[in-house]
Amino acid sequence: MPVVRFLREGRDVECYPGENLRDVALREDIQLYGLKGQLGNCGGCGQCITCFVDVVGSDVDSPLTGRTVVEDSKLRRRPESWRLACQALVEQSVIVLTRPQVRLADLDQKKAAALSEVLPAGPTAWPVVENVDDNDEGSEQES
Ligand code: FES
Repeated sequence: MPVVRFLREGRDVECYPGENLRDVALREDIQLYGLKGQLGNCGGCGQCITCFVDVVGSDVDSPLTGRTVVEDSKLRRRPESWRLACQALVEQSVIVLTRPQVRLADLDQKKAAALSEVLPAGPTAWPVVENVDDNDEGSEQES
């Protein structure tokens, strides 16, 4: 399974391939929003532009799905590596900096350290669900 390395928080979190990055952060109680977003955000519709993340690494788009039309419009004046977490699906392991507009001490050193550790490649297959034998269910109802 892919791993999302949250640089600011110093946490690695596993997720399913294709999982929404905002959903992963919220599920893990990672603060995605600055004050404005905490006071009010669009709930993941791509309208409030408060769920910025900076994708760390040289090939910034490959671990996530490509930029959406909404992002192309809303992030015109932002760095190329910035994404809206609510618009990005995790395809492979990725390193992200939440709230990149907020200063983080020793950022360059932390980026270098995060990049030096190998993340699991991901994605792997979805979890295998064993087939339920229909005959077993039927026999339970009959007895
Ligand atoms: S949550 Fe509003 S743009 Fe992402």
